Amino acid sequence: MPEPTTFNSQLSTPFKACLFDLDGVIVDTAVYHYKAWKQLANELGFDFTEEQNEHLKGINRIKSLELILGWGGLQKSDAEIQVLATRKNEWYVEMINAMKPDEILAGSRELLEDLRTAGIKIALGSASKNSSIILKKTRLADLFDAIVDGNVVGESKPHPAVFLKGAELLHVNPEECIVFEDAVSGVQAGKAGGMKVVGIGTKEVLKDADLVVSGLHEITIEKLKKL
Ligand code: G6P
Ligand code: MG
Repeated sequence: MPEPTTFNSQLSTPFKACLFDLDGVIVDTAVYHYKAWKQLANELGFDFTEEQNEHLKGINRIKSLELILGWGGLQKSDAEIQVLATRKNEWYVEMINAMKPDEILAGSRELLEDLRTAGIKIALGSASKNSSIILKKTRLADLFDAIVDGNVVGESKPHPAVFLKGAELLHVNPEECIVFEDAVSGVQAGKAGGMKVVGIGTKEVLKDADLVVSGLHEITIEKLKKL
Protein backbone atom coordinates (compact mmCIF):
# COMPACT_ATOMS: atom_id res chain seq x y z
CA MET A 1 0.00 0.00 0.00
CA PRO A 2 1.37 3.44 -0.85
CA GLU A 3 2.05 5.83 2.01
CA PRO A 4 -0.76 8.37 2.51
CA THR A 5 0.16 11.81 1.17
CA THR A 6 1.11 14.11 4.01
CA PHE A 7 1.46 17.87 3.86
CA ASN A 8 5.08 18.85 3.47
CA SER A 9 5.79 22.58 3.59
CA GLN A 10 9.08 22.03 1.74
CA LEU A 11 7.23 20.73 -1.30
CA SER A 12 4.69 23.54 -1.21
CA THR A 13 7.21 26.28 -1.99
CA PRO A 14 8.26 26.89 -5.60
CA PHE A 15 11.72 27.96 -4.39
CA LYS A 16 14.24 25.87 -2.46
CA ALA A 17 16.80 28.37 -1.24
CA CYS A 18 17.26 31.98 -0.17
CA LEU A 19 20.57 33.79 -0.68
CA PHE A 20 21.13 36.82 1.50
CA ASP A 21 23.47 39.73 1.05
CA LEU A 22 24.75 40.87 4.46
CA ASP A 23 25.58 44.61 4.62
CA GLY A 24 22.35 46.62 4.39
CA VAL A 25 20.07 43.56 4.27
CA ILE A 26 20.57 41.66 7.52
CA VAL A 27 22.61 44.26 9.39
CA ASP A 28 23.06 47.99 8.95
CA THR A 29 26.80 47.82 8.33
CA ALA A 30 26.35 49.79 5.07
CA VAL A 31 26.37 52.84 7.37
CA TYR A 32 29.72 51.79 8.89
CA HIS A 33 31.27 51.26 5.45
CA TYR A 34 30.10 54.76 4.46
CA LYS A 35 31.50 56.32 7.66
CA ALA A 36 34.91 54.67 7.25
CA TRP A 37 35.24 55.50 3.53
CA LYS A 38 34.18 59.10 4.21
CA GLN A 39 36.82 59.41 6.92
CA LEU A 40 39.47 58.16 4.49
CA ALA A 41 38.34 60.52 1.71
CA ASN A 42 38.29 63.45 4.15
CA GLU A 43 41.86 62.63 5.22
CA LEU A 44 42.83 62.69 1.57
CA GLY A 45 41.26 66.14 1.22
CA PHE A 46 37.89 65.52 -0.45
CA ASP A 47 34.36 64.33 0.27
CA PHE A 48 31.67 62.31 -1.50
CA THR A 49 27.90 62.23 -1.27
CA GLU A 50 25.46 59.63 -0.04
CA GLU A 51 24.29 59.31 -3.64
CA GLN A 52 27.82 58.44 -4.74
CA ASN A 53 27.99 55.99 -1.83
CA GLU A 54 25.08 54.02 -3.40
CA HIS A 55 27.54 52.98 -6.14
CA LEU A 56 29.88 51.43 -3.53
CA LYS A 57 27.29 49.03 -2.12
CA GLY A 58 28.05 45.44 -3.04
CA ILE A 59 31.41 46.41 -4.55
CA ASN A 60 34.52 44.84 -3.02
CA ARG A 61 37.03 46.80 -0.96
CA ILE A 62 39.68 47.54 -3.57
CA LYS A 63 37.17 48.35 -6.34
CA SER A 64 35.34 50.69 -3.92
CA LEU A 65 38.59 52.50 -3.11
CA GLU A 66 39.43 52.87 -6.79
CA LEU A 67 36.02 54.48 -7.39
CA ILE A 68 36.46 56.84 -4.43
CA LEU A 69 39.96 57.89 -5.52
CA GLY A 70 38.52 58.60 -8.97
CA TRP A 71 35.88 60.89 -7.44
CA GLY A 72 38.66 62.77 -5.63
CA GLY A 73 40.71 62.98 -8.82
CA LEU A 74 43.58 61.11 -7.15
CA GLN A 75 45.88 58.48 -8.59
CA LYS A 76 47.68 56.04 -6.29
CA SER A 77 50.05 53.14 -6.85
CA ASP A 78 48.91 49.59 -6.12
CA ALA A 79 51.02 49.59 -2.94
CA GLU A 80 49.43 52.86 -1.73
CA ILE A 81 45.97 51.47 -2.53
CA GLN A 82 46.65 48.46 -0.32
CA VAL A 83 47.77 50.74 2.55
CA LEU A 84 44.68 52.97 2.23
CA ALA A 85 42.30 49.99 2.00
CA THR A 86 43.87 48.49 5.13
CA ARG A 87 43.48 51.80 6.98
CA LYS A 88 39.77 51.99 6.09
CA ASN A 89 39.30 48.37 7.07
CA GLU A 90 40.87 48.91 10.49
CA TRP A 91 38.33 51.66 11.27
CA TYR A 92 35.52 49.51 9.89
CA VAL A 93 36.57 46.43 11.90
CA GLU A 94 36.70 48.55 15.06
CA MET A 95 33.05 49.51 14.42
CA ILE A 96 31.83 45.97 13.68
CA ASN A 97 33.70 44.52 16.63
CA ALA A 98 31.49 46.67 18.83
CA MET A 99 28.28 45.32 17.24
CA LYS A 100 25.63 43.70 19.42
CA PRO A 101 22.97 41.12 18.46
CA ASP A 102 20.27 43.83 18.67
CA GLU A 103 21.83 45.57 15.65
CA ILE A 104 20.26 42.99 13.35
CA LEU A 105 17.78 44.74 11.05
CA ALA A 106 14.08 44.29 11.86
CA GLY A 107 12.62 40.98 10.73
CA SER A 108 15.95 39.37 9.74
CA ARG A 109 16.19 36.74 12.44
CA GLU A 110 12.47 35.94 12.22
CA LEU A 111 12.61 35.42 8.45
CA LEU A 112 15.73 33.25 8.68
CA GLU A 113 14.08 31.12 11.35
CA ASP A 114 10.80 30.82 9.40
CA LEU A 115 12.69 29.73 6.28
CA ARG A 116 14.58 27.07 8.24
CA THR A 117 11.34 25.77 9.73
CA ALA A 118 9.89 25.52 6.20
CA GLY A 119 12.90 23.49 5.05
CA ILE A 120 14.26 26.21 2.78
CA LYS A 121 18.06 26.36 2.52
CA ILE A 122 19.89 29.58 3.39
CA ALA A 123 23.22 30.94 2.18
CA LEU A 124 25.08 34.17 2.67
CA GLY A 125 26.18 35.91 -0.54
CA SER A 126 28.36 38.87 0.38
CA ALA A 127 31.41 40.58 -1.11
CA SER A 128 32.72 41.25 2.40
CA LYS A 129 35.82 39.65 3.83
CA ASN A 130 34.55 40.56 7.31
CA SER A 131 31.33 38.54 7.26
CA SER A 132 32.48 36.05 9.92
CA ILE A 133 33.03 38.85 12.50
CA ILE A 134 29.57 40.28 11.84
CA LEU A 135 27.78 36.90 11.97
CA LYS A 136 29.59 36.07 15.21
CA LYS A 137 28.85 39.42 16.89
CA THR A 138 25.17 39.25 15.91
CA ARG A 139 24.94 35.50 16.72
CA LEU A 140 23.44 34.64 13.33
CA ALA A 141 26.07 32.20 12.04
CA ASP A 142 24.08 29.06 12.98
CA LEU A 143 21.16 30.06 10.76
CA PHE A 144 23.16 29.68 7.53
CA ASP A 145 23.70 26.42 5.62
CA ALA A 146 26.51 27.98 3.56
CA ILE A 147 28.62 31.11 3.71
CA VAL A 148 29.89 32.65 0.49
CA ASP A 149 31.81 35.88 1.01
CA GLY A 150 34.76 37.86 -0.33
CA ASN A 151 37.15 35.24 1.03
CA VAL A 152 35.51 32.54 -1.12
CA VAL A 153 34.75 34.36 -4.37
CA GLY A 154 37.01 36.94 -6.04
CA GLU A 155 34.62 38.43 -8.62
CA SER A 156 32.75 41.50 -7.42
CA LYS A 157 29.00 41.98 -7.94
CA PRO A 158 27.41 42.60 -10.51
CA HIS A 159 29.19 39.36 -11.46
CA PRO A 160 26.83 36.55 -10.33
CA ALA A 161 29.65 34.31 -8.96
CA VAL A 162 28.86 34.89 -5.29
CA PHE A 163 25.24 33.74 -5.74
CA LEU A 164 26.00 30.92 -8.18
CA LYS A 165 28.50 29.54 -5.66
CA GLY A 166 25.80 29.73 -2.97
CA ALA A 167 23.35 27.75 -5.15
CA GLU A 168 26.06 25.19 -5.87
CA LEU A 169 26.89 24.71 -2.18
CA LEU A 170 23.19 24.30 -1.36
CA HIS A 171 22.73 21.82 -4.25
CA VAL A 172 19.93 23.81 -5.87
CA ASN A 173 19.46 25.31 -9.33
CA PRO A 174 19.76 29.12 -9.70
CA GLU A 175 16.10 29.38 -10.76
CA GLU A 176 15.09 27.78 -7.44
CA CYS A 177 16.77 30.61 -5.50
CA ILE A 178 15.61 33.97 -4.22
CA VAL A 179 18.26 36.64 -3.64
CA PHE A 180 17.88 39.47 -1.10
CA GLU A 181 19.90 42.58 -1.95
CA ASP A 182 20.17 46.28 -1.09
CA ALA A 183 22.74 47.16 -3.78
CA VAL A 184 22.12 47.94 -7.45
CA SER A 185 25.18 45.80 -8.27
CA GLY A 186 23.78 42.96 -6.12
CA VAL A 187 20.35 43.03 -7.77
CA GLN A 188 22.12 42.87 -11.14
CA ALA A 189 24.24 39.94 -9.89
CA GLY A 190 21.17 37.96 -8.83
CA LYS A 191 19.37 38.62 -12.11
CA ALA A 192 22.53 37.74 -14.09
CA GLY A 193 22.58 34.44 -12.17
CA GLY A 194 19.02 33.67 -13.30
CA MET A 195 17.50 34.13 -9.84
CA LYS A 196 14.49 36.00 -8.47
CA VAL A 197 15.59 39.11 -6.56
CA VAL A 198 13.98 40.92 -3.66
CA GLY A 199 15.38 44.45 -3.38
CA ILE A 200 15.75 46.07 0.03
CA GLY A 201 15.39 49.80 -0.51
CA THR A 202 13.41 51.83 -3.04
CA LYS A 203 11.98 51.03 -6.48
CA GLU A 204 13.63 54.17 -7.90
CA VAL A 205 17.08 52.78 -7.08
CA LEU A 206 16.54 49.01 -7.36
CA LYS A 207 14.76 49.08 -10.73
CA ASP A 208 15.59 45.51 -11.79
CA ALA A 209 14.36 43.73 -8.64
CA ASP A 210 11.27 41.47 -8.89
CA LEU A 211 9.93 42.93 -5.64
CA VAL A 212 11.15 45.87 -3.55
CA VAL A 213 10.50 46.23 0.17
CA SER A 214 11.91 48.56 2.81
CA GLY A 215 13.22 45.70 4.95
CA LEU A 216 13.01 41.98 5.67
CA HIS A 217 10.24 42.64 8.24
CA GLU A 218 7.92 43.05 5.23
CA ILE A 219 8.70 39.56 3.89
CA THR A 220 6.70 36.40 4.53
CA ILE A 221 7.06 32.99 2.91
CA GLU A 222 3.60 33.51 1.37
CA LYS A 223 4.85 36.67 -0.40
CA LEU A 224 7.92 34.81 -1.67
CA LYS A 225 5.77 32.02 -3.13
CA LYS A 226 4.13 34.58 -5.43
CA LEU A 227 7.39 35.73 -7.02
C1 G6P B 1 29.75 44.56 0.84
C2 G6P B 1 29.46 46.04 0.98
C3 G6P B 1 30.51 46.87 0.29
C4 G6P B 1 31.90 46.46 0.75
C5 G6P B 1 32.12 44.99 0.46
C6 G6P B 1 33.48 44.50 0.95
O1 G6P B 1 29.43 44.15 -0.42
O2 G6P B 1 28.20 46.35 0.43
O3 G6P B 1 30.26 48.23 0.61
O4 G6P B 1 32.89 47.24 0.12
O5 G6P B 1 31.12 44.24 1.11
O6 G6P B 1 33.51 44.54 2.34
P1 G6P B 1 34.78 44.32 3.25
O7 G6P B 1 34.20 44.10 4.62
O8 G6P B 1 35.49 43.10 2.73
O9 G6P B 1 35.63 45.53 3.13
MG1 MG C 1 24.54 45.10 0.74
